[in-house]
This record gives sequence, C-alpha cells and structure tokens, in this order.
Amino acid sequence: MARDDAPLRLAHVSDIHVTVPRPAWKAEDWLSKRLTTWINHRLLGRGRRFRRAEEVLTALHADLDARRPDLRIFSGDATAMGFEEEMARAAELLGVGRRPGLAVPGNHDYCTVAARRGGHFERCFADWQAGERVGGEVYPFARRVGGVWLVAVNSATPNRWPWDARGAVGPAQLSRLEQLLGRLDGPRVLITHYPVALPGGRPEGRSHGLRDLRGLLDVAARGGVALWLHGHRHDAYYHPAGALAPFPVLCAGSATQTGLWSYGEYTLHAGRLTAGTRVFDPAAGGFREGASFVLDLPQKVSAARR
Ligand SMILES: [Fe+2]
Ligand SMILES: [Fe+2]
Repeated sequence: MARDDAPLRLAHVSDIHVTVPRPAWKAEDWLSKRLTTWINHRLLGRGRRFRRAEEVLTALHADLDARRPDLRIFSGDATAMGFEEEMARAAELLGVGRRPGLAVPGNHDYCTVAARRGGHFERCFADWQAGERVGGEVYPFARRVGGVWLVAVNSATPNRWPWDARGAVGPAQLSRLEQLLGRLDGPRVLITHYPVALPGGRPEGRSHGLRDLRGLLDVAARGGVALWLHGHRHDAYYHPAGALAPFPVLCAGSATQTGLWSYGEYTLHAGRLTAGTRVFDPAAGGFREGASFVLDLPQKVSAARR
C-alpha cells in the first residue's frame, strides 16, 4: 500500500456487464424493466457486444496482478440485468475479497426496485465498500489510501420505464456527502457511475443523465474534490479542469465491450495525474498499453471547511 508521500497507483475498471446462463427469474420480473433489458440484451444484440466478458476479465485480473496497483476502483454496471447471480460472478471475476478495491453500483445493477432493495450489489461487493460514513447509510463512504481520500457516491437508481436510464444521488445522500467531504483532510477523489458530460462536453441526453448533476457538482466543488472518476459511457475519455468542473473528470469506458475493452491506470503524485489506458488485445489474449496523458490536479484543499 502506498505511503502518504508516495505515488498512488489506481486501476479504474467499469461497465463490465457480466451475465450468467440461467439467472433466477421471478414472476414480477416479467412486468419490470428487467424484461426490456433482457430483450435488449438477448434479442436485440447488446449481449453480443459483451460475449467475451469472462475471457477479458480473466485477462484483466492477470494484468492487474502483474501491474500491482494500490487499489482497484470499479465504477458500476457490474451486470447486464441486476441479478444477484450476475453480481456474484462479476465480483468474483474482479477479485473482490481477494484484492483491495472500492466499488459503486451502476444503473444496470439496480435494474429493478427489488434488485436495489435486495442489496445484491452491496452484499457481493461488501469487501470493496469499507470506509468512513455519515450515519448508518451505505453511501457515500470514504477510504483513505496513501494520502488520498477516495469518496464513493451512489448515483444509480432503479427506473420504471424502458427508455429511462437516468440516475440520481438524492438530497439525503448529497447532504451526507457534504458533511463527509467537510471532515476529510487532504486530496479527495470522487467516484460515481454517472458522468458529468459526454466526450464532446455536451450534457448527457435527458433520459440517460444524472437528475441532480448540478447539485453534485456544487457539493464536489465546495468540498475540495480534486478529481472525478466515473463510468456509464462505454468509451474512455476525459475532461481537464475548466469549463465543466474545477477538477478533471475521467471516464474509464467499458472494460469488456468488444472493440472498446480497456481500463484506466492512474498515478497520482504531487498534484499531478499521469494516466494510461490498458487495452485488451484479442489476438494476444491480454492487455497492452494504449493512450496516455498527464493532467494537473487543482490545488490541494486542506482540512475541513466547517
Ligand atoms: Fe454500462
Ligand atoms: Fe450505466
């Protein structure tokens, strides 16, 4: 594990969309968003894009073991349809319980109200959800690794209608986040599923974005966040600090979608982020180096503000 003054090395993995051959359907699933998600996945071809997920994740696990990051960060959409069996398999493939990590859920993990209420994600990823909290709620939570606070926020919600893929943090969690950020001392990295913007800088479409993005951005900026990591979009991209937010925003992209399959490898040190993309090479059956870039992080915000 990194010392406080040593470079912190993070592996950022997202949107793996693992499924299993025969998940346990219940009667109510046929009247839920799970049905349209299943149609999309199995009949309309979405599942084909993730057909090599197990192979890619096995190679990813080996790549991470060779590169030995201080922490694996997972920013949601572990599953295709939010089944507990999918969640358990995804957690196993990512190394939950065997390697240090931190995880937040995505909208597919809360495919139905029952999936969220059942706490499948939180049960399967419990080992990657240890941290400091405000009160007894799971989210947000913060973990100090090296000299950096990693702050996990749940931005996913179940949605009723097939076309609705929006998320929300909610006023109660936002309030807890403000309290939590206020008592942390040192650089803070925010981890959500939902993005701040699309690759070109425009906001997400009305049916795909975060309902309370403005509120979360305000709390993050006031709370001294130095970097925002997210998933949900399946291509990897980043925005430097500037017009969108006073800190850089990075999307890992999908680790398993055919042709996009990559993850982010970041080193944080002395106010700088050195980022590299590790890309799956299907011919070699392993990951290789992709694009790299360096970003300046905003000045460290020290100590609590209130
Ligand atoms: Fe996704
Ligand atoms: Fe998503």
